[in-house]
Amino acid sequence: VLRDMSTLPRVYVTRQIPPEGLKILQDSGQVQFELWDSDDVPVPRTELLQKVKGVDGLLCVLTEKIDAELLDAAGSNLKVISTMSVGFDHLSLEELKKRGIRVGYTPEVLTDAVAELTVALLLATSRRLIEATHEAKTGGWGTWRTLWLCGYELANSTVGILGLGRIGVAIAERLAPFKVKKFIYTDVAPRPELAKAINAEYVTLDELAKQSDFLSICCALTPETKEICNKNLFSKMKNTSIFINTSRGGVVNQEDLYEALSTGQIAGAGLDVTVPEPLPTSHPLFTLKNCVILPHIASASYSTRNAMSALAANNLLLGLRSQPMIKELKL
Ligand code: DGY
Repeated sequence: VLRDMSTLPRVYVTRQIPPEGLKILQDSGQVQFELWDSDDVPVPRTELLQKVKGVDGLLCVLTEKIDAELLDAAGSNLKVISTMSVGFDHLSLEELKKRGIRVGYTPEVLTDAVAELTVALLLATSRRLIEATHEAKTGGWGTWRTLWLCGYELANSTVGILGLGRIGVAIAERLAPFKVKKFIYTDVAPRPELAKAINAEYVTLDELAKQSDFLSICCALTPETKEICNKNLFSKMKNTSIFINTSRGGVVNQEDLYEALSTGQIAGAGLDVTVPEPLPTSHPLFTLKNCVILPHIASASYSTRNAMSALAANNLLLGLRSQPMIKELKL
């Protein structure tokens, strides 16, 4: 049977997403979709504003700002936004709510990958792996030395988590076998159900800064958490502490972090996220040996990125059918 595709809901996909998601859209026969056919550069804003005109659904990634301007350009047909990310700080939720647009996102499928990468980044930072491989390759490797390239170990340490959600719990579960002495966390309120799983104690932000040997940032970026990691926090941390951020760059005041790292206020930092992204290669943080910077790769495993694209596609299709999405944001 030949179907008239032109009567199907129209969807714009802002990136060449991994194959599983594209296949779901293609095989559904439920939508006609247009795609920004590149993974290497994001769709230019002007192009995006053109392409969204009159669409019923939008599948986006975290590089697209979904704000009033974009929603106005799209017009009143737009019913569903599906983002291929767990983070949603690129979406103006208030504007979406006002217009009655539903939002899908991709929590849970990336928790393992993000937790795994966070552990890798933590160890790379605390045991100075990047510095060490550089020394080995460039002639810095002299005789075996007693204190050369020494770092800090997890055994017997206190690990702090700022923002205890699924990812924070998954990180703690992976770190526990390294003989961590104690887990502590802070959040807007205690989260006893999650904390119980990892035997974590609720403390104030001040205590978190003071007690943590390793501080892992796992909160969402919101107006409340913007630059919550600033001079005030770093000044309370021990000078033997390691700071790790795999959430969003915006939760950190980077000038204050630079200061804390360069003066020895804290021992090291591992960042998977920065402001802006990409961080310019001339950025002062890149000059510091005690700062390990990754290009936002925490969820970057083949299986997870495919699962994220499949979930984003399914959320979109369900939303367009006016059914409950698999993972829908409550607005
Ligand atoms: C997200 O999903 O929000 C991550 O930052 C990218 O996987």
